[in-house]
Amino acid sequence: MRGEGEKVGIVVISYGSRAAAMIDALCRSEDYDVRLYVADKQRNPFNVAHAEKHVVIPDLDVGKICDFVDANKAGIDFGICGPEKPIIAGVRDLIERKTGVPMICPTKQYAIEGSKVAQRYLIEKCCPEANPGFNVFRCMDYKSVSAVKDAVWSFLDEIGNEVAVKPDKPTAGKGVGVWGDHFTSREQLFDHFRSIFESGSDVLIEEKVEGEESSFQAFCDGKRIAALPDTRDYKRAFDADLGPNTGGMGSYVDNKDWLPFVNKRDREGEEKLVQKLFNKLRGNGENDGLRGIPFYVAFMHTCEGAKILEINSRPGDPEIMNIMPVLKSDFVDVCFRMIEGTLSQVECAKKATVVTYAVPMDYGGYRVKYSGDRRVDLSGVYALKEEYGDNLRVYPGSMEVREDGNTYALDSRTVCTVGIGESIDEAREISLEGTRAIDGALWNRWDIAAAHYIERSIRKMKELRE
Ligand code: AMP
Ligand code: GLY
Repeated sequence: MRGEGEKVGIVVISYGSRAAAMIDALCRSEDYDVRLYVADKQRNPFNVAHAEKHVVIPDLDVGKICDFVDANKAGIDFGICGPEKPIIAGVRDLIERKTGVPMICPTKQYAIEGSKVAQRYLIEKCCPEANPGFNVFRCMDYKSVSAVKDAVWSFLDEIGNEVAVKPDKPTAGKGVGVWGDHFTSREQLFDHFRSIFESGSDVLIEEKVEGEESSFQAFCDGKRIAALPDTRDYKRAFDADLGPNTGGMGSYVDNKDWLPFVNKRDREGEEKLVQKLFNKLRGNGENDGLRGIPFYVAFMHTCEGAKILEINSRPGDPEIMNIMPVLKSDFVDVCFRMIEGTLSQVECAKKATVVTYAVPMDYGGYRVKYSGDRRVDLSGVYALKEEYGDNLRVYPGSMEVREDGNTYALDSRTVCTVGIGESIDEAREISLEGTRAIDGALWNRWDIAAAHYIERSIRKMKELRE
């Protein structure tokens, strides 16, 4: 029998807190003795503390990651990748071809976030009911700015001004502009359009859909998808959903598979849509190119059912941090099953979880500039673990441990605290108490999973359905 303390070498490709959460879940394995090899964007203190070998590859270049795996392959059984950039660049294809180490993430062909336009065409084929109206503006089709402006105006005449304007290529949610939020006139809309277009990217304009968002994630072995509980992400920088879009300031999961503002049927509807996408990409039999989390889908629940905003082929950040701490299945075993094609189900504890991110002063435009000390001391929040035990998790992200032994915030989301409880309120209190115990020049949203916010979501869905 596999397990029973067997040594397992695992390479983790890390960008931030998402990998720390996966490493935490791997290390909790009771069946395996886990040795970690981490290819990291920076000297993440959590990853450094848990890794047998840790290497910093700031640009996450796939050639360098592959060299690291190749040099250590004698001790490595498989690898797992968190961020999208290496997946899009074909990290799995390269590592498997050159080293024979199986990787958990889709192949380059199925790095679906590589093109938002291609996603829209795929959804149109599999489940058009989940597509908002859209149009694609390709750079090569227009000789002048005035020609493309005429084309944009003419599409807006058809669909109305209430649209979202998106670059074809991924920009971590930050290049997306939405009518009413980021522009309120056609001229402003076109300024946003033009800034994308002139950077050389094709542009997608799609109908703005009104509703409440949820994130769906599922593990996949190429034959089946094993769905995880739905998560709500808070993309906007500031409380009350003000400010620019960010990578996500926090998120929550309820103590069941669906969120408080939808119902079981809505969740089943999501699963059906994802299954249609999966069936199309899987073809008639199985397709292990889809191994990993091939469908992390952002849904908008509207009065006409669920619409798909975006699909990614990787775990969500922060969404996967809601899930990893409550995984009941042994994560190493889940990984082996994904590789072998024997994954049927992934079990999670029926708990609510809340993630709050603490970020640097100059993140999301909170301050124009911050030139002060960037030292961050997590000892206060770790001390709280004595009180909360495993109901509080701390996952460092964009921060590094330096030669002086101290930890420092870098540019992106610094560290998140995950609270785990019987209810969302309980989980939220723990997460916020953890955040308050961080010593450093960081800020955070205070309304992640707040009762008034969730009540507003419930009210909005009720109004939309009526
Ligand atoms: P995306 O990167 O495509 O997920 O977009 C980032 C955020 O922009 C989403 O989480 C939504 O809040 C918003 N958004 C994107 N597309 C639309 C749309 N068609 N209608 C309304 N809001 C949108
Ligand atoms: N939570 C947004 C993302 O992972 O893209």
